[in-house]
Amino acid sequence: VTDHDVSVVVGAGGIGAACAAELHRFGGTLVLADAALGCADDIANGLRDRFEVVRAVRVDITSDESVRQLASLAASLGTVKRVVHAAGVSPEQGGVDAIVAVDLVGTAHVIDAFGDVIGRAGAGVVIASVAGHIFAPFITADQARALGAATPAQLAELTLFDDLETAVAYGYAKRGNQLRVRTAAKRWARRGARINSVSPGVVDTQMGRTERSGTAGQAIEELIANSPIARAARPAEIASVVGFLLSESAGFVTGTDLVVDGGALVNFS
Ligand SMILES: NC(=O)c1ccc[n+]([C@@H]2O[C@H](COP(=O)([O-])OP(=O)(O)OC[C@H]3O[C@@H](n4cnc5c(N)ncnc54)[C@H](O)[C@@H]3O)[C@@H](O)[C@H]2O)c1
Repeated sequence: VTDHDVSVVVGAGGIGAACAAELHRFGGTLVLADAALGCADDIANGLRDRFEVVRAVRVDITSDESVRQLASLAASLGTVKRVVHAAGVSPEQGGVDAIVAVDLVGTAHVIDAFGDVIGRAGAGVVIASVAGHIFAPFITADQARALGAATPAQLAELTLFDDLETAVAYGYAKRGNQLRVRTAAKRWARRGARINSVSPGVVDTQMGRTERSGTAGQAIEELIANSPIARAARPAEIASVVGFLLSESAGFVTGTDLVVDGGALVNFS
């Protein structure tokens, strides 16, 4: 690790903040980006003594231009070695349009833009969701191909999302994240880099708490109660897995998804 190694965390919410703290073991420079600059600033301020340089910046991942500016800024600070994408909206935080724009298209922007600047031996992790696995059986092979490989502009127009309930749209978008990471693995490998996704179950963050008290609250409580580890995750339990995937210990792991859900998926076929 040199002072010029750059780690980028997109999304300064509960999971993003825990990932930023986890990244301190790699040192170097940290760039923390969020649509809400105040959130990024607060977390960055708490981490200043753990990195050589810490920068908080505003990004709107729904805009390709905004994400490309972030990627250029990160690359101008040194070699981009680690990228964590933890920005998103949940069903209670936005409707289908917001989920498509942020979770589906926004994630494609991040994977594409950082795929152009990631350095040798670098790695990326996209935070998807166990919802992507729960809803995967309802997606046809053609739809899956489109989710994995369509351009961001095409993704925004997919008829797959017409007339969907918000929770289903979220599941499809998160499946899209997992598939897009698989597609991107070859491109990242050409730069000597790896990319994977992590699919959490319910995590104790603002988003997790909002979902538990929202319209799907009862179903979520049942999902948790029926899981082998019958509780929500602490953000640090997601971040430690992200840290592993970004480390050299995971040097042969790419193009795949790691489920970190307390076993919730054992109840699904
Ligand atoms: N919390 C959970 O239970 C849970 C479970 C599975 C997956 N996830 C996923 O993990 C990721 C992080 O979730 P979290 O729990 O930390 O949520 P959170 O609400 O605490 O943080 C999300 C962050 O994303 C930012 N954001 C939203 N729209 C943005 C945009 N257009 N551009 C840039 N930033 C934007 C928000 O400002 C916020 O800081 C999300 O993708 C979410 O879908 C969360």
